[in-house]
Amino acid sequence: VPTRHFQFNLEWKKVTRLCHTKQLLTINGKYPGPTIIVNEGDNVQVKVTNRAARNTTIHWHGVRQLRTGWADGPAYITQCPIGTGKTYMYNFTVTDQRGTLLWHAHYSWQRASVYGAFIIYPRMPPPFSAPVQDHIPIIFGEWWNADVDAVENEMMLYGGGPNVSDAYTINGLPGPLYPCSIKDTLIQTVERGKTYLLRIINAALNDELFFAVANHTLTVVEIDSVYTKPFTTSAIMIAPGQTTNVLLTANQIPDGMFVMAARPYLTSVFPFDNSTTIGFLKYNTTKLGREKPPLPPSSLPSNLPSMEDTAFATNFSNQLRSLASTDYPCNVPKEIEKRVITTIGLSLQDCHVNETCKGYRNKRFYASMNNQSFIRPSRSVLESHYLKLNTGYASDFPEKPPNVFNYTGVDPVAENINMNPEFSTRLLEVPFGTKLEIVLQDTNFLNPENHPIHVHGHNFFIVGRGFGNFDVYKDPAGYNLVDPPERNTVAVPVGGWAAIRINADNPGVWFIHCHLEEHTSWGLATGFIVKSGPESSQCLLPPPSDLPPC
Ligand code: C2O
Repeated sequence: VPTRHFQFNLEWKKVTRLCHTKQLLTINGKYPGPTIIVNEGDNVQVKVTNRAARNTTIHWHGVRQLRTGWADGPAYITQCPIGTGKTYMYNFTVTDQRGTLLWHAHYSWQRASVYGAFIIYPRMPPPFSAPVQDHIPIIFGEWWNADVDAVENEMMLYGGGPNVSDAYTINGLPGPLYPCSIKDTLIQTVERGKTYLLRIINAALNDELFFAVANHTLTVVEIDSVYTKPFTTSAIMIAPGQTTNVLLTANQIPDGMFVMAARPYLTSVFPFDNSTTIGFLKYNTTKLGREKPPLPPSSLPSNLPSMEDTAFATNFSNQLRSLASTDYPCNVPKEIEKRVITTIGLSLQDCHVNETCKGYRNKRFYASMNNQSFIRPSRSVLESHYLKLNTGYASDFPEKPPNVFNYTGVDPVAENINMNPEFSTRLLEVPFGTKLEIVLQDTNFLNPENHPIHVHGHNFFIVGRGFGNFDVYKDPAGYNLVDPPERNTVAVPVGGWAAIRINADNPGVWFIHCHLEEHTSWGLATGFIVKSGPESSQCLLPPPSDLPPC
């Protein structure tokens, strides 16, 4: 097995955007971070050296980490943080996976600037017919003029919503619709007649995004490093943590500059960032003078969905299908051994006397699953589990919601639902090989967006989705058990539910959480522990000797 070596240094770097200069946490001084490119089947060794006065960890989002949970990265779930001056080697093999994923810091809100693409070249030629001439990475992020630690701390201290970012970015560039950003605009050259694979990654902290390119259609061929049945669309919807590969053919006559744009998908008019980031596709025959970036365009692509276009988002998600071919079969469990139903959403906590709370109705925002607001333990759960210490966590995550199963309300205070969550570290534990179903029921409280729920260590199959309350008697009859989309992050519809099925075939401890960073900080998380199986090939490997201590 060939080994690929990478050196990642966490270090500060002065970066200017929107005419604000600040110190950013980066990997090797790059913003966004370096791209990792490996071949399917490679052993990957990334040596992370921490040269900043901050703890850190790095997560390889979507990499299965078969038996190598120690290299997964979420702080206090699979490892303790890498301290200042310390080094940790992430050592894992990319088995039976190919396509586009991402890597990012998994400590605090460091993902704001510590993220990059993780690309796996396939062993076999890809199953789509169009010959791809080139690859174009499109990575979305967010830029804050303020210090991101301060934004996070203030949110946790007062329990109010966080200050929104000042710009969305494409490959770290906000584009000309933001103040002082004309020179920070992505201009991607293409050649007429060629077909490109756009590797689209949403690394933004807190927003789902729509993305479109003026005058061009996009053919979706892969999501979260899994091939799909190709379909052509005018735009895509992508949640934080998701990746989408699309084919784009440069087929426009005359040549010109074409706007690519991304804006959030939000279903209400809360004071969220509703701005738009744009870049340009530039046909190579277009003369630009001295490569001068263009002025703001007079219009956005007409195919870019409007901010509240739930119909588009729903229709887009419904078109996603696994390839389910002989070469790439769909291994969705047809039968299940366990079904867990969990609410996901915001919770409110009463404000203590002499405390200022800036959440809804003078209360404090938290978030929860089955009204359990997740607290990270002081030692990693994986270590406690492996060493059989049985401290710091419990394996009794409630398998049903605490309340009557009716979540169409909008006011938790009036309806006394999701009030005063239990702060706990309760995880689900299953034997190796369990065929598991998790129904994620959005509570719809005070929440204007989908919750992108990410599962570590496994892909899952989205067998059903719907609006309103999940009905355990009726809804399973409508599941797709033939070619459901397979991915690692599902955008659970706001005011609705999604049912996912998992083959729990990877021993270890796996974080499950909302990939909106504010919601993870507020506790919208749990985890599941997959016990080792009887065969030696079904056991978690022992911890590496350089695993950081707590
Ligand atoms: Cu991409 Cu647990 O995260």
